[in-house]
Amino acid sequence: MPRLINVVYQVTRAAFAVAVFALGTQIYIKAVIKDIESHASKNSVSTTSIASNVLGNDSSQHSLTELIFGDTSLSRLQRILAEMPPPYRAYFESHDKLTVFAPVDEAYDLEKFDWDNPDFYWMYLEAYHYVIGNFSLEDLAANPTLPTVLWADIYASYRQRISIQVLSPGTVKLNHRATIVKPSLKAKNGYLHYVDRVIMMPVSTAYVTRHWPEFSLLRQGLDHTGLAVIVNDTSTHNGQTFFAPSNRAFEKLGKDVTDFLFGPWGRDCFRALLEYHVIANETLFTDSHFKANGRGPGLINNEVAPGFELNMSTMIRPLQLKAHIHHDKDRGIGKIQINDEVDVTQPDIVVQDGVIHKIDDIILPPKLSAGTTEDGHGSTSAWDRLRVELLRPKNTMTVENLLQRFQPYLQQTL
Ligand SMILES: *[C@@H]1O[C@H](CO)[C@@H](O)[C@H](O)[C@H]1NC(C)=O
Ligand SMILES: *[C@@H]1O[C@H](CO)[C@@H](O)[C@H](O)[C@H]1NC(C)=O
Ligand SMILES: *[C@@H]1O[C@H](CO)[C@@H](O)[C@H](O)[C@H]1NC(C)=O
Ligand SMILES: *[C@@H]1O[C@H](CO)[C@@H](O)[C@H](O)[C@H]1NC(C)=O
Ligand SMILES: *[C@@H]1O[C@H](CO)[C@@H](O)[C@H](O)[C@H]1NC(C)=O
Repeated sequence: MPRLINVVYQVTRAAFAVAVFALGTQIYIKAVIKDIESHASKNSVSTTSIASNVLGNDSSQHSLTELIFGDTSLSRLQRILAEMPPPYRAYFESHDKLTVFAPVDEAYDLEKFDWDNPDFYWMYLEAYHYVIGNFSLEDLAANPTLPTVLWADIYASYRQRISIQVLSPGTVKLNHRATIVKPSLKAKNGYLHYVDRVIMMPVSTAYVTRHWPEFSLLRQGLDHTGLAVIVNDTSTHNGQTFFAPSNRAFEKLGKDVTDFLFGPWGRDCFRALLEYHVIANETLFTDSHFKANGRGPGLINNEVAPGFELNMSTMIRPLQLKAHIHHDKDRGIGKIQINDEVDVTQPDIVVQDGVIHKIDDIILPPKLSAGTTEDGHGSTSAWDRLRVELLRPKNTMTVENLLQRFQPYLQQTL
C-alpha cells in the first residue's frame, strides 16, 4: 500500500511538472509569435541554401547567418539552427542588430547533453547565445551584462541576461565560463564571437547554492534556518538579488560565532542574518536594475551606471541594504559595494530567477549613532548590538546575550 501511494505521488508530481512545463512553453511560444508578428518577417534568409565556400574575405558583407553557415568549425551550431523550425530562426534574425556567441564544435563535447531533449530545448539554448545589439569585443568589455533574445521566465516579462568578465584587455569571458576564442567577425547585422564553451542556460539560485563548493556553509545555513524553502521556490519571487556569503565570509566570523549560528540556539538569529542578504522581487546587476512593477508578474528595467546608489528592501522588511555601483578603473566595469563596506567579490552570477553576487564578508546593518544602543527597543538597535558583538573579540560574546538581544527583533522577519 505505501508503495502504491508512492507511485501515485510520483505520477501526479510528474504530471504536474509536465503541465507546468507545457503551459510555460505555450506562453513562451505565444510571446515569441507576438514578437515575430510585430517584426513582420523582415528578413527570411534561407540558411540551408548557402554554400560553405560562398564567403569572400570581407565578413561585413554578409549576414550573421551567412557567416555561421559559411564556417566549417561551426558545424554543430549549423545543425541546431538548420533543424529549428523556420519561424524561430526568423525570430532570432528579426532583430536589426545582433551579437552571436557561436560555440566551436569542440565546445559541445565539454557538456553532458541529454540528446533526447525536446526540440525546444535547443531553441532555448540557442536563443541564449543571441544578444540584442551589435557589440564588438571592445563594446563587450564596457557592458557587464547584456540581454539575450531568451525570455527569463514563463511570463515573458524580462530577458535572460549574459554576464561579461574582462580578464585582461582582449580576454573576455561570459557567465564566468565561456571564453571568446579566435578573432571575432563583423557582419552586416552585428558581430560573431567564437566561444570555447556552450553558454548553458542559467540554473536556479538553489542549484548554485547547492553545487558551488564555496557556498557549502551558506547551503548548510539555508537548510538549517529553513530559508532554503523560500530562496529555492521561484514562485515566491519575481526576480531576486542574493548577496551570497562564501565560506570565507563565515570563517571570518570566528569559530564561536559560527558554532552558535549553526547550532540549535542560533537558528533564529542566523535566519535573520541570512534574510538580510536576500532581496526578493528585485534584481540588481552591475548595469541594470529590475523591479517588480506591483501589478502582476512583470518587471521593469532601468539601466544603471557607475555612481548609481539604491536602497533595497531585504526580506526583513524594515531593513534595507544600500547598494552602490562604482567603477573598477582597471577593468572598466561596474562593481557593487554594499552599505559602504562590503565589496562584491564576484558580481553578476546570472541565475534563472535573478542574480547572485558573491561576497567574502557578512553584511551587517549600518552602525547607528551613539546613544541609540542603550535603549532596549527597536529592531535596528538590536542589530547594532549584534554588530558590536560580532566585531568584538569573539570569546566575549555569549549565546544568551545574543539571543536575548535579538528576541524583540526576530518577530518582524517574514
Ligand atoms: C582574400 O585573402 C587572401 C589571403 O588571405 C588573398 O590572397 C585574396 O586576394 C583575398 N581576396 C580578396 C577578394 O580580397
Ligand atoms: C551598432 O551599430 C550602429 C550603427 O550601425 C551604431 O550606431 C551602434 O553604436 C552600434 N553599437 C551598438 C552597441 O548598438
Ligand atoms: C533547496 O535548497 C536546499 C539548499 O540550498 C536544498 O538542500 C534543498 O534540497 C532544495 N530543495 C529543492 C526543492 O530544491
Ligand atoms: C514578491 O512578489 C510576489 C508576487 O509576485 C509576492 O507574493 C511576494 O510576497 C513578494 N515577496 C516579497 C518579499 O515582497
Ligand atoms: C538610502 O538610505 C540612506 C539612509 O536611510 C539615505 O541616507 C540615502 O539617501 C538613501 N539613498 C537613496 C538613493 O535613496
